[in-house]
Amino acid sequence: MKAIKKAIIPVAGLGTRFLPITKTIPKEMLPIVDKPNLLYIIEEAVSAGIEDIILIQGRNKNSIEDFFDVSYELEDQLVKKNKHDLLNKIKDLKNMCNIISIRQKQALGLGHAVFCAQPIIGDNPFALLLGDEIMYTDENTPTVTKQLITHSLDHNVSTVATMHVPAEDVYKYGIIKTDELSKTRFKVLDVVEKPNPEDSPSDLALPGRYVFESDIFSYLKNTKPGKNGEIQLTDAMVTLAKNNGLEAITFKGLRYDAGDKFGFLQANIEFALRHPEIKEQLKKYLIKKSKELI
Ligand code: UTP
Repeated sequence: MKAIKKAIIPVAGLGTRFLPITKTIPKEMLPIVDKPNLLYIIEEAVSAGIEDIILIQGRNKNSIEDFFDVSYELEDQLVKKNKHDLLNKIKDLKNMCNIISIRQKQALGLGHAVFCAQPIIGDNPFALLLGDEIMYTDENTPTVTKQLITHSLDHNVSTVATMHVPAEDVYKYGIIKTDELSKTRFKVLDVVEKPNPEDSPSDLALPGRYVFESDIFSYLKNTKPGKNGEIQLTDAMVTLAKNNGLEAITFKGLRYDAGDKFGFLQANIEFALRHPEIKEQLKKYLIKKSKELI
């Protein structure tokens, strides 16, 4: 497999679970403490060696492009006020990686969103990171995308992240049927999108991190609309698994579903509890509040 330098982050979904705020503000721009959700995802990709990020955008998502663009007025004000730390933070955003935007003109599903990036990815392998799933790894652990890239290159195979979930939660995820190669490594045999617990092939869910060979595009091209009338990535993954092989690995790290209200609040609390500026204040507040609530 060639080196993996490109990543797709689809952000064109409608974010209905977060209405009404997502009527005008993309869920990927909602803050986790002081950074938009999407920035955590881009940082994860960049620290895995990704150089080009392809954002699949929808309507009402202009604030995402603006965030990574130059902001002359703000930079000028920060220079005049001698706020160089803040200025550097803002400037770093522009230089992290190349951001390339493509419009998905209709939200026809995740599979369709990924397919929109084909002209830019060409025949290169690529990483795919869902725009509303945040992964946390400490500074001594490679990011989840880096863990996937290492596995893909070592074994020359497309690789997806997987995690065990309780039976009552399988309906929220793509669930894989597998052959177990080790406790942490699986050969993917089938993928079922959001099954009922009684039909679920396993408890292994797909939390939104993938590394694919470019062959996935030819399978996406031939994928007909599936569940909910959307072009499902999971349907193309089934064909990829059967023809080229696909593996799944469990990962070191924590995952937050920031596209869901509860997951978003969990992410905010837990990232705040790691944030040097506010962690002590928040800890005291939570202890006090929890005593009041019990
Ligand atoms: P989700 O199904 O979680 O996102 O898609 P959504 O549709 O925005 O959310 P809800 O369920 O209505 O609240 C997973 C990811 O795929 C992107 C979304 O932006 C999200 O990052 N996506 C989904 C697209 O880019 N295009 C689509 O057509 C569908």
